[in-house]
Amino acid sequence: MSNTSTNDLIAIERVGDIALICINNPPVNATSQAVRQGLQDAIATLNDDSGAKVIAIYAAGRTFVAGADIKEFGKPPMPPSLPDVLNIIEQSALPVISVMHGTALGGGFELGLATHARIGVESMRVGLPEIHLGLLPGAGGTQRVPRLAGIPFALDMILSGRQVGGAEALEHGLIDRLVSGDPRQIALDNAQDVLDGKLATRRTDQIGTIPDQKALDEATAMLAKKLPHLFSPHKCVEAITASTGPLLDGLKIERQAFVDSMQQPQSAGLIHAFFGERAVSNIPEAKGPSRELNKIGIIGGGTMGSGIATSCLLAGIPVRLIEVAQDGLDRGIATITKNLEGAVKRSKLSAEKYESTLAMLTPSLEMETLSDCDLVIEAVFEDMDVKKEIFTKLDAICKDGAILASNTSYLDINEIAAVTKRPQDVIGLHFFSPAHVMRLLEIVVAEKTAPDVVATGFALAKKLKKIGVRAGVCDGFIGNRILAHYGLCAGYLTMDGASPQQIDNALEQFGFAMGPYKVGDLAGLDIGWMTRKRKADTRDKNQRYAGDIADRICENGWFGRKSGKGYYVYDDATPVPNPEVAKIIDTERAKSGISLQEFSDQDIVDRYMTAMIVEAARVVEDKTALRPVDVDMVFLFGYGFPRFRGGPLHYADTIGAKELVSRIENYASEDGHFWQVPNLLQKMADGGSKFADLN
Ligand code: 3HC
Repeated sequence: MSNTSTNDLIAIERVGDIALICINNPPVNATSQAVRQGLQDAIATLNDDSGAKVIAIYAAGRTFVAGADIKEFGKPPMPPSLPDVLNIIEQSALPVISVMHGTALGGGFELGLATHARIGVESMRVGLPEIHLGLLPGAGGTQRVPRLAGIPFALDMILSGRQVGGAEALEHGLIDRLVSGDPRQIALDNAQDVLDGKLATRRTDQIGTIPDQKALDEATAMLAKKLPHLFSPHKCVEAITASTGPLLDGLKIERQAFVDSMQQPQSAGLIHAFFGERAVSNIPEAKGPSRELNKIGIIGGGTMGSGIATSCLLAGIPVRLIEVAQDGLDRGIATITKNLEGAVKRSKLSAEKYESTLAMLTPSLEMETLSDCDLVIEAVFEDMDVKKEIFTKLDAICKDGAILASNTSYLDINEIAAVTKRPQDVIGLHFFSPAHVMRLLEIVVAEKTAPDVVATGFALAKKLKKIGVRAGVCDGFIGNRILAHYGLCAGYLTMDGASPQQIDNALEQFGFAMGPYKVGDLAGLDIGWMTRKRKADTRDKNQRYAGDIADRICENGWFGRKSGKGYYVYDDATPVPNPEVAKIIDTERAKSGISLQEFSDQDIVDRYMTAMIVEAARVVEDKTALRPVDVDMVFLFGYGFPRFRGGPLHYADTIGAKELVSRIENYASEDGHFWQVPNLLQKMADGGSKFADLN
């Protein structure tokens, strides 16, 4: 039989007694329908009197198969199914081996598991990350990994979704050999070894899983504690439990669990998050040229400036840190040093690289030393006059083409840019605290910002391993603007009858890691207090004030965790509600003469989320965010929004525009100023469309 192909994506090559099957479906060789069909046909053809004595499967390009084609999820099934194809491979009369390079993930690793011997290529990694998509391995992973590596290892791998390196995979029997070289040549050499009896082959249905009820019970208890909201992890345990029986029975249980998980809204939310993370950098400017980023200047050694500096240093970019006085500079250096030490502890930085990373930091009291920087990020406190003074100086000091960025979280970048003679080089780079940990970077594009400056913002985000989201100029940009709106809603709920603890609990049940009052205590209540005072004169007088309770708390000097008291008291490991706050709430309610309401936890979630969606819809409508998905990613990566709900506007689609409009109209009977239906939402309700249609 000569070289042939079953379709465009699957090629068969004959070399003597060996048949090679090459998968070529860029970029990551996902098992799309054509790949599944091609593999099935190839195995059938080769077993059907082709004369070949052994089959070796490998992949072209940068990686072996990285999984099922996620784009096919949610669409009607397109046969043949991956489990069926893999069973055909496992039952092949001819021995089949696989050569895995790059990242063999999900259905890709499961393809390897179904072959009769697996060869790993040097820096390869294997993994079953389906849990991150709200799923479980659906093509044999829960049945074949416990057979090869035992139940405890299978539980760890499948419930964490982590990638396992070649050496570890070899140690646990997931691969048979770890070699280096070109995948095609490795396929030929190892296939020859099978023919020569030097490489043993075996089918996983001939291997039994060693029972381990204790490990399964421990995993169930851990999930109940750590991942109570998620559906598929529990299904993983159920499927792994079935791996002690016959393989075909276990595969059936696994398949049903996979189908059940796929039907959960949380799987759609997590898949939206997967594509959303990648979609946000898909903006017109990012396709064009960007500027060099060899050295970054940072003005301000406070928490933000030091966090940004740490992030740049960890990405290998030299940083010049500027402060006005020596004590401020010393504090900045100390914070960065501590951050880097923390990075070593958390294995984000190797101990060997610690010194050389810190050595890339050059502190200075002279702004003139920024003259050789490609980008300067100003991270001083939020005062327009101070910022204007800094940007005027930077305009005089920085070299031509240098980018001047502000880390402001709400100020008008156009106004800042206008004090320079180079507004095209000015941009907002809004990091989130702690900046070396939080992954969100709002890239705020002002009226005159040049496209290559925007592209450089996105290139920086990528270098820093952050999620860059394009935002327009307005008070608070995407995230803080929306936060200000639903923050009011939380304030109204507290005044009208809910306690801060009830609100926190309701939202934690919904999936937030922390309720808004716990977050406030953590961030410092003085920040919001200062903002309310700053905005007091310009506040919309028709809008009901929501800060009475918070103001009284701050007047007592209770700023949250850092002062030991806020909405909660922080004397012991577990914070308890501050009894003084309950008294303040009673007094403020009595003063305002409000008739109290009883809110169920569901009422709280509905109002809070509807307020968030209302402002998010306006942010999309006025193009502060390019698309709904940009809002969603801001909330997933900057505001602790539960990933399994996909983001506020993905969540809005699960409720539907009509229902949201009816809710808002209902709430408007209490406060018609705050609760107004955004035009975009009204149009969607009238036309039956969704936010997803705008992505
Ligand atoms: N299906 C469809 N598209 C995929 C994909 C997949 N499994 N994996 C990656 N892609 C796409 C990405 O969306 C991206 O598209 P874009 O260029 O249009 O934005 C492109 O491939 C490149 O991906 P990355 O930008 O992520 O490239 P990286 O090199 O940074 O990472 C990767 C490569 C490690 C493979 C990463 O893409 C990844 O983790 N992919 C997902 C792997 C996964 O979850 N596999 C399990 C799928 S579920 C499954 O297999 C079910 C089975 O058990 C039945």
